[in-house]
Amino acid sequence: MARSGKDEHIELDRALLPRHVAIIMDGNGRWAKKRGMPRTFGHKAGVEALREIIRHSDDLGIEALTIYAFSTENWKRSAEEVGALMGLLLEYFTRELDELHREGVRIRILGDIGDMPRGLERQQRALYDAMARTKENTGLKLNIALNYGGRQEIVHAARALAQQVKDGKIEPEDIDMARFEGELYTAGLPEVDFLIRTSGEIRLSNFLLYQLAYAEMYQTDVLWPDFDRRAYDEALLAYTKRNRRFGGV
Ligand code: FPP
Repeated sequence: MARSGKDEHIELDRALLPRHVAIIMDGNGRWAKKRGMPRTFGHKAGVEALREIIRHSDDLGIEALTIYAFSTENWKRSAEEVGALMGLLLEYFTRELDELHREGVRIRILGDIGDMPRGLERQQRALYDAMARTKENTGLKLNIALNYGGRQEIVHAARALAQQVKDGKIEPEDIDMARFEGELYTAGLPEVDFLIRTSGEIRLSNFLLYQLAYAEMYQTDVLWPDFDRRAYDEALLAYTKRNRRFGGV
């Protein structure tokens, strides 16, 4: 458990690790800028970092990992940057799917894939395929938030429940937390225990607004492309030392 030097291995007590980790992968643009490169260069490096974090989560036996890949607000970025991100996404799902599937990873997309702009039909197909192909897998539950907004997710759930009331399937008083949670994109996943945000920003950016109610939060100045196993271990070590009270004393 003790850690003295930068290269020393971080020993984690697996029994204390979070079951469900969520990550806001921030800082790709700044990472690229520091190197005099375009923002898209940072996103490419971000995919490499993601690969390592997925593998390490799996190695550590973490049950669920939820990452924020693209928000409903990210469409406001330049056409060039959106295009590059969508290109990376397609490349990721075509190149990595076999390996993720072999490792038993179960992929779920959180967000409205059906409502993506025209021209992204190949991406949509790749996302649906990835979910269908891996849905019986029993390893790491990898959830990728894409065209995702936390407020939109809550409204979407409210609307689904309203429809059920309208159709006479349930009464308004049948709506409780369990039923509400059943309509969120994260239905059936364990509670989010730990939120990591890289690059020094301390805000939620419309991510998992309902699900983060009791999550422990962690922020680091490390930019996402530099967030490696060791940085992840440091975050997890900090989590294992937290005293979670869930509103109690
Ligand atoms: C935030 O950095 C990062 C994003 C908006 C995109 C994250 C996407 C990836 C890591 C790769 C794509 C994902 C998959 C699944 C292939 P920023 O651009 O906001 O950086 P900045 O705050 O420094 O400008």
